[in-house]
Amino acid sequence: MVFTTRDALVVSAFAIAISSVHGHINLSPKYAEPNQVLDTMFHVPHGCNGSSTVSISVTVPETITNLTARPVDNWSLATAYRDSSNASVNTITWSGGLLKGTDAFDFPIVLTVPNVDLSSQTNVSFYFPVVQTCEVGSINWTSTSTAHGSADGEPAPALIVVKNATQAAADALAIKGTASASAPAPTATGNSGNQIYAGLLPVVAAIAALSISL
Ligand SMILES: *[C@@H]1O[C@H](CO)[C@@H](O)[C@H](O)[C@H]1NC(C)=O
Ligand SMILES: *[C@@H]1O[C@H](CO)[C@@H](O)[C@H](O)[C@H]1NC(C)=O
Ligand SMILES: *[C@@H]1O[C@H](CO)[C@@H](O)[C@H](O)[C@H]1NC(C)=O
Ligand SMILES: *[C@@H]1O[C@H](CO)[C@@H](O)[C@H](O)[C@H]1NC(C)=O
Ligand SMILES: *[C@@H]1O[C@H](CO)[C@@H](O)[C@H](O)[C@H]1NC(C)=O
Ligand SMILES: *[C@@H]1O[C@H](CO)[C@@H](O)[C@H](O)[C@H]1NC(C)=O
Ligand SMILES: *[C@@H]1O[C@H](CO)[C@@H](O)[C@H](O)[C@H]1NC(C)=O
Repeated sequence: MVFTTRDALVVSAFAIAISSVHGHINLSPKYAEPNQVLDTMFHVPHGCNGSSTVSISVTVPETITNLTARPVDNWSLATAYRDSSNASVNTITWSGGLLKGTDAFDFPIVLTVPNVDLSSQTNVSFYFPVVQTCEVGSINWTSTSTAHGSADGEPAPALIVVKNATQAAADALAIKGTASASAPAPTATGNSGNQIYAGLLPVVAAIAALSISL
């Protein structure tokens, strides 16, 4: 499989553009190809009904056995493993930080995408249930059912494995563009420095990569 750096950068620029106007915790980027080593982030768009976020706790799907959570400034990182070999991460918790209720932030991980067979299906989703804890209240981003407003919480972030992640991200962006064309413009949310950094760098780098390849 050929997945160039340029593709990855373009995908992440698209994914960030999509997720920054989205109200749910999402993976950004969330589309990936089988067996790919993927750098991605849990994009936390806001706190709990205005209250500041103090902890993000993630359960890793069992099928994902090669995953590393990256540390974030001012947050402590704790990982629990599936067994005493410490090879496979079961849960990740970033805690001890304080993220204002109106602010967005990204918590990064790197993982190897399962080598799923896409010969008879277009995509396979892997869900990462997340519990967001705030100074006041918490949100269970734990639902893996596609029905909205389900009893098991808000939708869990998903990694979606497809044949062509660049294409899937572009398609999602096109759908989003069509959907929001008649909707009011999204209001700006207070973005943290890391968000601006993550949002601009891939775009700049993608443009640089494009001009190099021309
Ligand atoms: C969110 O906060 C507002 C204002 O404090 C309150 O009226 C509302 O009930 C809260 N909603 C939830 C779901 O807690
Ligand atoms: C595990 O992930 C690392 C990146 O964190 C990657 O370099 C390595 O190749 C992966 N190993 C396997 C067996 O997929
Ligand atoms: C970490 O905390 C220090 C002290 O409050 C602050 O100056 C710095 O900007 C914070 N770093 C990030 C990435 O939020
Ligand atoms: C796994 O991690 C635990 C806790 O950090 C440690 O005590 C143990 O020695 C580690 N096991 C291996 C095989 O590295
Ligand atoms: C994933 O597959 C389902 C049907 O199995 C389809 O409805 C959906 O559009 C696909 N999503 C993507 C991103 O390909
Ligand atoms: C989140 O889930 C836990 C247990 O699964 C439950 O006790 C708690 O009430 C839920 N929180 C919310 C805000 O729904
Ligand atoms: C994936 O999709 C992109 C965008 O449509 C396209 O340029 C690229 O050639 C495709 N890659 C493969 C391997 O088909």
